[in-house]
Amino acid sequence: MSAREVRLQAPAKINLNLRVLFKRPDGYHELRTVFQTISLSDRLVIRYRPARKLTVSLQDSGGIADNIVLRAAHLCAGAMRCGGDIEMELVKRVPIGAGLGGGSSDAAAVLLALPVLAGKSIPAARLSAIASQLGSDVPFFLQGGTALGLGRGEELYPLPDTMSRHAVLLVPDLAVSTATAYGALSRTLLPAHADTKIAAFESEVWDGGGQGKNDFEPVVFALHPKLKLMKSQLERSGSICASMTGSGSAIFGLFEDREQAGQACQSLALKYKGENRAFLIRLLSRGSYRNLWRRQLQSHLAPDNQIWPPRSLYER
Ligand code: C5P
Repeated sequence: MSAREVRLQAPAKINLNLRVLFKRPDGYHELRTVFQTISLSDRLVIRYRPARKLTVSLQDSGGIADNIVLRAAHLCAGAMRCGGDIEMELVKRVPIGAGLGGGSSDAAAVLLALPVLAGKSIPAARLSAIASQLGSDVPFFLQGGTALGLGRGEELYPLPDTMSRHAVLLVPDLAVSTATAYGALSRTLLPAHADTKIAAFESEVWDGGGQGKNDFEPVVFALHPKLKLMKSQLERSGSICASMTGSGSAIFGLFEDREQAGQACQSLALKYKGENRAFLIRLLSRGSYRNLWRRQLQSHLAPDNQIWPPRSLYER
């Protein structure tokens, strides 16, 4: 049998709001966050051919050792209890170490696409458990859109689509290690402040959009002062609000309309020429995210496939 193939876009995310409450006994930090998928995306090709034994290979433009997509493919094949030849090609477009969740999205893309190609279904709860095992942000990419994240960020609830649709992303020429940023922030956390943070987060989410603070900013800005400058430049360029995403290093600004965002993007790109990259991006609603997924898996999906995650044409 010839290989079944899909060509995928794996969209990145921003955190519209990110509160870090305290360090838990398991070493992770308890979060309150609002995740949002965006149009900037990696490219991933997956080819699957049934076989008795499992072989997984990856061509990776970023050359990342022990890439998370390899682990995702092994865990997914294990859950489907099947072998197969899995060939993947990854082209990184989402900057790494920028708080944009590129690797997490690539891993979720494997979990969404492989069962469809192999004609197997994995129960949603099992798929989420595999995603959390791969990383705290991976489960969000099984859902997309705007979502409330609790716990490590793996406990998710849908939120209404945001009013703002357009944004500018400024990505500096420096990467921030998530573990280092958590370590630095952890030393400043006071358990007594957790309730105040939850109350503030709650009112920001009720106010609509969920935009608010990112608790990593003070510690990451202290390590990399130019990020603070980038944020104030985005604020001055007409954005409704500007914030760092994840543990950095990227900063985003939300805009009323595409034209304003486009103008700000152009002038910031000129200003920072050669130093930082500026991207004009769209916020992807859950509807847009799932339609993108249905389109890219289309030729392998059961007809009238409205269920989520999508079901395979080859399932018996
Ligand atoms: O879950 P993930 O592998 O993406 O996390 C990377 C690192 O970030 C963890 O090893 C941990 O140090 C930190 N982290 C954390 N609390 C979270 C998420 C991540 O401390 N909620």
